[in-house]
Amino acid sequence: MRMDIVKESHRILTENRRRTDGHEYTLPSPESYPYQWLWDSCFHAIVLAKLEPKFAKEELRALVSKQFDDGMIPHMIYWQAGDLHRYEWGKDGTSALTQPPMIAYAVERIYNNDKDKDFLREIYPSLWKFYKYLVEKRDPRGHNLVGIINPDESGEDNSPRFDVVLGVDHDISLDDHLKKRLVLIKENIKCNFDAENCMKNHFWVKDVPFNSILITNLESLERLALELKITGDAEFSRNHILLMKAAMRRFMFEDGVFWSTYGKDYEKVKVATWSHFAPLFAGIYTQEEAEVIVHKHLLNEETFKSPFGIRTVSKQEPSYHPIASSLSWRGPIWFAPHWFMYKGLARYGFDKESKLIFNMSKGLLEKEGFREYYSPETGEGQGAKNFTWGALVVDMMNI
Ligand code: GLC
Repeated sequence: MRMDIVKESHRILTENRRRTDGHEYTLPSPESYPYQWLWDSCFHAIVLAKLEPKFAKEELRALVSKQFDDGMIPHMIYWQAGDLHRYEWGKDGTSALTQPPMIAYAVERIYNNDKDKDFLREIYPSLWKFYKYLVEKRDPRGHNLVGIINPDESGEDNSPRFDVVLGVDHDISLDDHLKKRLVLIKENIKCNFDAENCMKNHFWVKDVPFNSILITNLESLERLALELKITGDAEFSRNHILLMKAAMRRFMFEDGVFWSTYGKDYEKVKVATWSHFAPLFAGIYTQEEAEVIVHKHLLNEETFKSPFGIRTVSKQEPSYHPIASSLSWRGPIWFAPHWFMYKGLARYGFDKESKLIFNMSKGLLEKEGFREYYSPETGEGQGAKNFTWGALVVDMMNI
């Protein structure tokens, strides 16, 4: 079925929009995810920046309205009275965890579109506080890599990158995985979500996508600070970009790819996931390294490339799970990783390959509609329905 992707994406973003207490925000999926989520809202804002900039700004205003005093932005805001997520996430009305920090990037996209300096001036202080919190509080030992205290902070809750850290087997069931994460959340609550204590005692992962995404966002933050002529802030971002890139090389790079690490000794988690491609988004690989990444891994049909898209986990991993049930980050194709790969490939000039990601994404939307994730083996749409991430395909088009 041919689909007007722009029109359908706009429709879904409009249908999923809600208003509470004067705030407007978009639900990723009204049935399955009836809250506001951090990185989801940034994806919505990136697409809305072109379609309806007013709502792109509202979405981010709603997101920063619940920023904590220390600068952290929570990964979930419940908004509606009586809404409670099925677990206790630490705070009343929001979670006490964060998510990949895409907000500076989203603000820059909005700003580039209409040069609304008033909006930039209004939102910039929240961004500054958030990124300062991440680079300072999430790196208690000062090694220039930012840590997450719970798998959900990566946005990829059941990814096998966290198996060894959680102490679970590759063939763990969905229920057992959930139980493990619930135990960890209880521990997070006990250590009061204080990064230093939670990391030391329970879960401390320096994740490749999270750090890559942070670096790209610091690039946006630097440019935004320069727009506002705050040169000291711009310098802070520039320094951290350089320090973080060097630290990623030092602690995460081996055999031509970046691996997430855990614990104080930076043990590498040698599980092949799409995280190998995330540093393309931040320009961390050299051009020569990127050629190898693309040809040896991304386009390799024995590992990552399926007829329908790029797997989130290599087919060769024992944890690979094509029929997602709900172990959704153990193989299925998702639009956000596709979008990060698309941008990363374009950054390096891999035009043919980024076009391929666009075509495969478009194919999934036309075949199965706006679903949460898709089987790499059959292309079947799975998980939540009316899920907004398909709208990211609009940002792979020249509109
Ligand atoms: C799922 C995803 C997470 C996303 C959330 C809301 O939990 O794993 O990345 O933010 O749904 O869409």
